[in-house]
Amino acid sequence: MAVLEREGSRAQLAAPEQAVYDIAVIGAGYVGLPLAAAFAEADQRVLVVDVQPQVVEALNGGRSHIEDVSSERLAALVARGGVVATTDYEQVRQAHAVLIALPTPLSRQREPDLGYVEAAARSLARVLQPGQVVVLESTTWPGTTREVLLPILEGGSGLRAGADFFLAMSPERVDPGRGDWTTKTTPKVVGGVNAASTKAAAEVYRRALDSVIEVSSAEAAEFTKLLENIYRAVNIALVNELAQLCGRMEIDVWEVIDAAATKPFGFQRFLPGPGLGGHCIPIDPFYLTWKAREFDFSTRFIELAGEVNNDMPYFCRSLISQALNHGAHLALAGSRILVLGVAYKRDVSDCRETPAAKLIDLLRAAGAFVSYHDPHVPEFDGMRSQPLEPEAYDCVAIVTDHSSIDYGDVVRRASVVVDFRNATRGHEEGGTVWRL
Ligand SMILES: NC(=O)c1ccc[n+]([C@@H]2O[C@H](COP(=O)([O-])OP(=O)(O)OC[C@H]3O[C@@H](n4cnc5c(N)ncnc54)[C@H](O)[C@@H]3O)[C@@H](O)[C@H]2O)c1
Repeated sequence: MAVLEREGSRAQLAAPEQAVYDIAVIGAGYVGLPLAAAFAEADQRVLVVDVQPQVVEALNGGRSHIEDVSSERLAALVARGGVVATTDYEQVRQAHAVLIALPTPLSRQREPDLGYVEAAARSLARVLQPGQVVVLESTTWPGTTREVLLPILEGGSGLRAGADFFLAMSPERVDPGRGDWTTKTTPKVVGGVNAASTKAAAEVYRRALDSVIEVSSAEAAEFTKLLENIYRAVNIALVNELAQLCGRMEIDVWEVIDAAATKPFGFQRFLPGPGLGGHCIPIDPFYLTWKAREFDFSTRFIELAGEVNNDMPYFCRSLISQALNHGAHLALAGSRILVLGVAYKRDVSDCRETPAAKLIDLLRAAGAFVSYHDPHVPEFDGMRSQPLEPEAYDCVAIVTDHSSIDYGDVVRRASVVVDFRNATRGHEEGGTVWRL
């Protein structure tokens, strides 16, 4: 256990070597597990804390449930003692730094739900040690670290943030399924509740990550993450709107985007699709909208982008209906539709907030018989993934463009294909393809 001497009301800082663990990661999810692996691979001793006993048991057995960390990679780290998992917060006493990577969803009323973070903070406060460095990684509204986390940690521990322990925010930037940028190579932004906290947290990350950027406050770090996600949400909404216009004008939006992307400066490529998905982009912007109300400010771009993006499944349903009508003289009601891909994006199994869910609901409400095929998702919405037999359906709707699918074969075998991802590009011959 890290033994720390106190000097008046201020703590003598814990030397990292006094701790049994260098890092405790709270939450073994899409963010927490890659983070734990990155630190362990930098020869840091990592404690992973999760409330799900079966997750902890699997991790200690070297079995990973997160695609970005293979079981092989995890097993090697566990075998050499680099990663240890537990459900027991008591063990966090023995860690030098504590990184919180917990979900920050929206409530049913679409307001920020900090329940996971608050519950973990209460557990952490009971075991918090002088000299520890606590960092929030979860995406959230600017002010959360100081206004929510700080009082819970101080109240429960009797220690003072920025003096007895350090408190900072460093937003996670993981993009699941991505190979070119990893937790280690993606620059990390860090901002503390005071300068000492920024410095202490930055030092922790520099032990394992390639590049750490210090900002002036926890609020600046929180806002940075929201800017990144809002930038994506707004630009995706823009191309989604233009895709609808292109459809009416009989111009291929994909060709236009590719052509615009040849400009070497001033343009970034965003692609249209069936709607937003995943834990971040559909949710995080509304954390800012909620906080902005406190300042009598309305975030119009965010609201507009939300409207356009939320409308996409409705637009996609009408495209399927037109394709059936013109391509096969069929009505949507009574047609058999195979939704190809239900994960929220290519080559992952994550279905959180996937637009496929809304589209399937809409198709069913219109009387269609819906099945799905997804090589990454064996069960979804009470259904099982069906074999990929395009000829057995009136229409195949490509919602997620997993790279393992032979789209040429799908086009050849299907009666009608509706493609929301441009996955059939170059495979149009010999089939009927309708594209967003
Ligand atoms: N998933 C992504 O692609 C992504 C990308 C960037 C940022 N983020 C942000 O990172 C944060 C974490 O998201 P995630 O996707 O890793 O979540 P997740 O749902 O994958 O994992 C969370 C884990 O925390 C555990 N947990 C819940 N309450 C706990 C508690 N009190 N103590 C310990 N463990 C607890 C759960 O059992 C689960 O295993 C969110 O704020 C999210 O917005 C996510």
